[in-house]
Amino acid sequence: MSEFKRTLVTTALPYANGPVHIGHLAGVYVPADIYVRYLRLKGEEVMMVGGSDEHGVPITIKARREGVTPQDIVDRYHTLIRDSFKDFGISFDVYGRTTSDTHRRTASDFFRRLYDKGEFIEKTSQQLYDPEAGQFLADRYVTGKCPHCGAEGAYGDQCEACGTSLNATDLIDPRSAITGAVPVMKETTHFYLPLDKWQPRLEEWILKGHKEWKTNVYGQCKSWLDMGLQPRAVSRDLDWGIPVPVEGAEGKVLYVWFDAPIGYISNTIDLVGDDYTKWWKDPETRMIHFIGKDNIVFHCIVFPAMLMADGTYNLPDNVPANEFLNLEDDKISTSRNWAVWLHEYLRDFPGKQDTLRYTLTANAPETKDNNFTWKDFQARNNNELVAILGNFVNRAVVLDHKYFGGKVPERGELQEIDKAVLEEVRQAVAATAADLDQFKFREALRQAMNVARAGNKYLADTEPWKVWKSDPERVATILNVALQICATIAIVGEPFMPFMSRDLCEMLGIRDINWQMAGRDDILKAGDNVGEAKLLFTKIEDDAIQAQMDRLERIKEENKLAGWNPEPVKAECSFEDFEKLDIRVGKVLECERVKKSKKLLKFRIDDGLGGRTILSGIAASYPEPEKLVGTEVLFIANFAPRKMMGEESQGMILSAVNPDGSLTLASASAEVKPGAQVG
Ligand code: 2FM
Ligand code: ZN
Repeated sequence: MSEFKRTLVTTALPYANGPVHIGHLAGVYVPADIYVRYLRLKGEEVMMVGGSDEHGVPITIKARREGVTPQDIVDRYHTLIRDSFKDFGISFDVYGRTTSDTHRRTASDFFRRLYDKGEFIEKTSQQLYDPEAGQFLADRYVTGKCPHCGAEGAYGDQCEACGTSLNATDLIDPRSAITGAVPVMKETTHFYLPLDKWQPRLEEWILKGHKEWKTNVYGQCKSWLDMGLQPRAVSRDLDWGIPVPVEGAEGKVLYVWFDAPIGYISNTIDLVGDDYTKWWKDPETRMIHFIGKDNIVFHCIVFPAMLMADGTYNLPDNVPANEFLNLEDDKISTSRNWAVWLHEYLRDFPGKQDTLRYTLTANAPETKDNNFTWKDFQARNNNELVAILGNFVNRAVVLDHKYFGGKVPERGELQEIDKAVLEEVRQAVAATAADLDQFKFREALRQAMNVARAGNKYLADTEPWKVWKSDPERVATILNVALQICATIAIVGEPFMPFMSRDLCEMLGIRDINWQMAGRDDILKAGDNVGEAKLLFTKIEDDAIQAQMDRLERIKEENKLAGWNPEPVKAECSFEDFEKLDIRVGKVLECERVKKSKKLLKFRIDDGLGGRTILSGIAASYPEPEKLVGTEVLFIANFAPRKMMGEESQGMILSAVNPDGSLTLASASAEVKPGAQVG
């Protein structure tokens, strides 16, 4: 038994500036939900807190782009995100928002308490300022070159290419994200939390006290602490956020990373009122933060320092942060639309929430970045959920109806094979629990699936359909055992696949489940009714997967086009220079590939002067060269002849370079006589 009385699970509050995608689900919400459901099944007292992070610069930037207010943006996405989570069975006890009155009050009071205790330092410094917009450029309002890795497009608070956390003034060649202007320096005063003051306590607490944390989390904390913590600004010159509750600080708001984690407290208050102290201050409550790796420093260093500065709160007990999930070998990106959006997934795969939950857990980015592919998703559904779990349950239930009219049969004496499978199931249940206790969700799921694997093999080995004629009593025992295993699947599978569990419980007529029942051989009583077999999972066909891959292919193309810029104009040339070129119109008489060359096409051109041969390196763009016969082309007629692949080329055909590197032949806009001069 744990030494704690209850567990508070928090999940990172996603920014309400876009829909949520599979990366969110895999990194934070599915593992948190599995954990919480597992604790609830064990009968533990647990609260799962979530909500939207509705402040911060990305929201105001989006609002400005769309010509709406930040409130419009967060209202839209808060609802969409909340509904997506609900649809996927993420079982929050409360899902709040940081624009709520409770949060405004809670965050404001928190700041004021620290201010009154003298926990902040005030510092005046030169900050980047956009003279055109008349605004300071905090965080994502400024982009530039990363001073660490040299990547272009790094933000004022972070470089997404190398993950380094930055100060806006660190950026090389900064530009305003609002107007594109080159910022000037302007003086401003801000409140800083002196993280350096808390360094010794943080070191003691994390480096000595929490060696059990995941290596990625512990390692990141250690490297921050080894570098030496600096005071961190917790206010901003912005007009979207919670006003700094201090006289003379008009026009300043709390830094979004100061107010967001306090959102966990506010949302608890929204749910239980004054009882929130039981969840936040009672030392017998343990707190677990589920987050992605980009949030580690805020949850392991900044927020704990805030809690230490207050002095009345618990510190987190564990922060099982995940790495990132990639999509088809490329980083998930909201701005590039490179994601599988949850609301779109549900439109395309209605009723298949558990398949996604399963795939994301089986492939969770627990210790390193991982990759989601549609092919893997299909294989996991068809080869594991349908072929193993679904198949086993279906066979057990169908056979029970066939032989025993849908009643759980009375079992006789157990044979070795029966005892062995029940033991295997008990061990798999125990292993699932041990892994869940250690936040090893991938392995826990594998163990839970071993219950279904064992059941499947048991039916294949005992072959009740062959035994029925000679020994119906033996079949009664086999099916009793098989149905008990089905019941265990409904229990151990619940944290991972709650929809499957609900349907299976209904099929088996089980009302209340708890973890302690799992693995037992008397979950179902002889004579209990078993409902008709319903398929728990159905096959996903190739065309559904192809449609998703095609969508991603289209997005890739769109991104290429969106990122395309025309080449800069070359150095000036004179009219005399231009006049030296003799550009003519020609008509294609013949066109074929040049043997042994991947690039070259050989054109026979009617140039109005008796004809000529021109070689052009555009074979990749015109795979059917014969189709070009009869078309008009533009060519340079006065280039000196030159040999290519043993053939002489008498000029050069003009073509345009497309964004994807392919070429399109240039031609006259209306029919022109071959040989006509262009100029
Ligand atoms: O990274 C993010 O999406 C942040 N909005 C997470 C905030 S977590 C918490 F502190 F609220
Ligand atoms: Zn970088």
